[in-house]
Amino acid sequence: MKTILITGGAGYIGSHTLVECLQAGYQAVVLDNLSNSSSEVLNRIRCITGVSPIFVQGDVCDAEVLTNIFSTYTIDVVIHFAGVKAVGESVQDPIKYYKNNVAGSLVLCQIMCNMNVFKLVFSSSATVYGDSRDMPLREDSLNTSPINPYGHSKLMVEQMLSDLAKSDPRWSIAVLRYFNPVGAHASGLIGEHPKGVPNNLFPYVSQVAVGLRPFVCVFGNDYPTADGTGVRDYIHVVDLAQGHLMALNYLNAHNGYFLWNLGTGRGYSVLEVIKAFSTVSQVDIAYEFLPRRPGDLAECWSAPQKASLELGWNASLDLNSMVTDSWRWQTLNPHGYDVEEEG
Ligand code: NAD
Ligand code: UFG
Repeated sequence: MKTILITGGAGYIGSHTLVECLQAGYQAVVLDNLSNSSSEVLNRIRCITGVSPIFVQGDVCDAEVLTNIFSTYTIDVVIHFAGVKAVGESVQDPIKYYKNNVAGSLVLCQIMCNMNVFKLVFSSSATVYGDSRDMPLREDSLNTSPINPYGHSKLMVEQMLSDLAKSDPRWSIAVLRYFNPVGAHASGLIGEHPKGVPNNLFPYVSQVAVGLRPFVCVFGNDYPTADGTGVRDYIHVVDLAQGHLMALNYLNAHNGYFLWNLGTGRGYSVLEVIKAFSTVSQVDIAYEFLPRRPGDLAECWSAPQKASLELGWNASLDLNSMVTDSWRWQTLNPHGYDVEEEG
């Protein structure tokens, strides 16, 4: 049985990927500092899979913690989710982003080298494409730079990983550029519960539908899109998690540095998302038009063909599944993993 170290495995995408990995027969060690997650997720994962993953509470920047993990367990491969991800916060506090995302990845790679582990899957983001208008975005659509420190931190790690793979043929590295991950596990036991006011559309709309917030603020209705609102490539988190399994399979057979977009290849507008939530929840969801949010693009969607051809991976869950699963998670867990939290 192969053992995976999943950094950030208590988080939103990490927990869904952990479920898929356990169900595929991998053994998992989770390293997470719980800065944006709860240990309750591990109980939920046990309910879904019948397996308790090994959990280490610690920081990916901590070389001693990492060395202990690699000395205690025979790790075959690492999936590296741990990091911080709020675009606005990255502008206010860039050091936090370069420390957690760049320095954390550097320490991880250094310890992996020391401990002779050379297989790595890294969470990157469509944010690396900056304000490219080259739709649909292909893996080589990097004709502009990222427009915020978060995006720079992801692109810097991609560069570091590409250089590492060139330096030593033992490395097998998969970089996955996610588009807009949404939805939740069909069990309703795990999902995303952002702390405070959600930045992202899906959790915001579902909190309005469940009555935690009065209306959705729609940022801009004057974009050059069909209904004037922003268009994004939303991808179900379970499809995304399965993309990681396909990447693991690929790394078992190939050495080098590989890069794939994980998206559906189709975009939906803000109003289409609100309408889908209204239909599924049977709630009339109020919304108001506000000015555009600084830094937002009119539209952003992926060309997913490379992952389809090389990994045999295709997203299969549609907008209705994304909304249905988000809604189930939201109604069963209105306060996320913390029953005492205020809304
Ligand atoms: P998340 O915040 O839910 O999960 C990240 C996890 O990492 C959390 O459990 C957090 O506690 C942990 N963590 C953060 N810093 C850490 C550190 N220094 N050491 C140990 N643990 C740490 O976020 P997510 O949405 O699951 O994102 C996972 C990865 O995917 C991140 O790297 C993120 O940048 C990337 N990504 C996310 C999105 C998205 O929209 N959710 C899009 C593209 C890329
Ligand atoms: N939007 C609203 N109201 C809200 C929130 C969002 O109208 O309350 C709109 C935005 O203007 C945009 C669309 O909904 O048009 C999607 O916005 P999100 O914040 O959900 O997602 P983004 O595309 O802005 O960014 C997300 C992550 C980034 C990541 C990017 C690509 O937040 O970290 O997807 O993966 F880089």
